[in-house]
Amino acid sequence: MEKKTFYITTPIYYPSDNLHIGHSYCTVATDTMARYKRMAGYDVMFLTGTDEHGLKIEQKAKEKGVTPQQFVDEIVIGIKDLWKTMNISNDRFIRTTDDYHIESVKKIFKELYEKGDIYKGSYKGKYCTPCESFWTESQLVDGKCPDCGRPVQDAEEEAYFFRLSKYADKILKLYEENPEFLTPVSRVNEMKAFINQGLEDLCVSRTSFTWGIPVEFDPKHVVYVWVDALTNYITALGYGNDKYNDYDKFWPADVHFVGKEIVRFHAVIWPAILMALDLPLPKKVFGHGWLLIDGGKMSKSKGNVVDPVTLCSRYGVDAIRYFLLREFPFGTDGSFTNEALITRINSDLANDIGNLVSRTTAMVIKYFGGTLPTDRCADNDLDADIINMANELPQRYSEQMEKFAFQNALMEIFKLISRANKYIDETAPWVLIKDESNKPRLASVMYNLLECIRICGILLKPFMPDTAEKILDMIGATGDEREWENRDFGGLSKTPTVTKGENLFPRIDMEKELQELAKQKEEKIQTNNTTKADVDPLCETIKLDTFEKTDLRVCKVVDCTPVPKAKKLLLLKLDDGMGGRQIVSSIAKYYKPEDLIGKKIIIIANLAPAKFCGVESQGMLLAGDVGTEGECKVIFVDDAVECGTRIH
Ligand code: ME8
Ligand code: MG
Repeated sequence: MEKKTFYITTPIYYPSDNLHIGHSYCTVATDTMARYKRMAGYDVMFLTGTDEHGLKIEQKAKEKGVTPQQFVDEIVIGIKDLWKTMNISNDRFIRTTDDYHIESVKKIFKELYEKGDIYKGSYKGKYCTPCESFWTESQLVDGKCPDCGRPVQDAEEEAYFFRLSKYADKILKLYEENPEFLTPVSRVNEMKAFINQGLEDLCVSRTSFTWGIPVEFDPKHVVYVWVDALTNYITALGYGNDKYNDYDKFWPADVHFVGKEIVRFHAVIWPAILMALDLPLPKKVFGHGWLLIDGGKMSKSKGNVVDPVTLCSRYGVDAIRYFLLREFPFGTDGSFTNEALITRINSDLANDIGNLVSRTTAMVIKYFGGTLPTDRCADNDLDADIINMANELPQRYSEQMEKFAFQNALMEIFKLISRANKYIDETAPWVLIKDESNKPRLASVMYNLLECIRICGILLKPFMPDTAEKILDMIGATGDEREWENRDFGGLSKTPTVTKGENLFPRIDMEKELQELAKQKEEKIQTNNTTKADVDPLCETIKLDTFEKTDLRVCKVVDCTPVPKAKKLLLLKLDDGMGGRQIVSSIAKYYKPEDLIGKKIIIIANLAPAKFCGVESQGMLLAGDVGTEGECKVIFVDDAVECGTRIH
């Protein structure tokens, strides 16, 4: 009989920087699901990869002075290493710069154009570069990107559009008829609201940069990164290319795991593209929650990220994998803290499971020289209770796994672990051993404990692959006894030989550890502090009243234009909270007008006016020079500070 298939994906991540623990979170969840399904007998395709095109990558590469391809190549090496470190069992890794993907995307775009679902028009809107997202005026929040809160820029260009509006009703119908399509359910309401506010056609090509897949029949356009990215889920199976040949086998996907911020792309745009291509839709999209840090989203662009490589080397991969899936319900946000991580390691891993395994194996070694004898006695009520619980566990666990409720699945396992620890206290083996005639009873107790551990070991394989194998080694489970097929109680040989293994999860001294982490953080800050030999010497000391004569004010750049015939100069129109003014600044080499419009800056407001190339400047903005070339960087101010605010 042919195996049932299971196709699961992570988002393809932007290689604009090294990945952080938030990316690991989704990938670990996906890996755990893939391993669970493989264990349960499915033919699994687990896909992950990288989303390598777009303006942001192009800019990052430029900053670094390398080509975009060189830039992503280096980061992708790090990403692949990270997945190796974290024991990620992906079957495939797609890069959107792979030739076969590019070939497929060109075909898909052309097909949509020929079908009339892509047409040529002109685009006016707002663009958020860090998010690579176009927005309409009405979608902005306080004039800023609704996703990340950063300023957006005006953009207008000749562009191709995808007839997204045509699919609004079909997508609403999809949610109605198939309530399982998008989970958790709260996400459905968000998407309905999004669609009901009016779906506009989507701009799907760009001419403002080149780092993308060219439109085959109009190559000055590159394909919008999200169309390029979303199609990875089918191009990686060989749709539109000859590289792979398992589209028929694995499509439609069983589930796309994605963070909640990109549900919109996966539950609205992606189905619409597939409908336009007459292809089946994925069976499910799961929008998982965010790992927060200090109450906000961890993000590469904010720089407040937790490095998974550091965590894994300090605490072990399995502890991190366990923590991520045990601490937070998969559908909702959760706060990452070192305290929470250490607490989990100590209480669940060191105390509960670590103790159970080490106590049990130690007793079998001490009382029976490591191998259980054949002589047993009949089960009593205490045994029946725990055996029953162990027998029910796999079913309860599976019910949770099928819902992607990883936290609940782990809680089910740990209920049996706690029960087994209690069973040791109830049966008191150290009392039984005092009387030789109790040996058969003692052997039964040990066997029951080993069986509980074995079943937990099997069920923990998807979560903590290495630890699970170590546990199964220690209790002497061999061959098929380690497999899912033998998850019923009694599967272990009657006379297993246990071994004393390493301490699985040593306890961590919370206080010392937190101190150590704080120290490391401090050291990192220190080493990041530059002590440049060529820092300008300090000026002569002044009294406060001298400084106070300088009137520094926060202003918003409301307009910005080049000064005619003056290559270096920009004219900035400012809201200074006092009716407005203009300044001239020689920063045209470093900033384009659209980089400045909407930003808040600081100016010296009581500087005597001066003329530059005939244009009056009523003040001077604050900026600093960086690098050997003295590249100018304007000091931008948090938008919360009101125009006209005096700086002191
Ligand atoms: O959005 N908490 O890539 P990306 C939890 N290339 N998960 C997080 C997280 C956090 N703090 N930060 C990131 C993109 N993630 C696109 C995807 S798919 C066709 C294209 C996870 O590098 C989460 O799964 O910004 C999120 O959706 C994903 O990383 C975004 O990664
Ligand atoms: Mg993102």
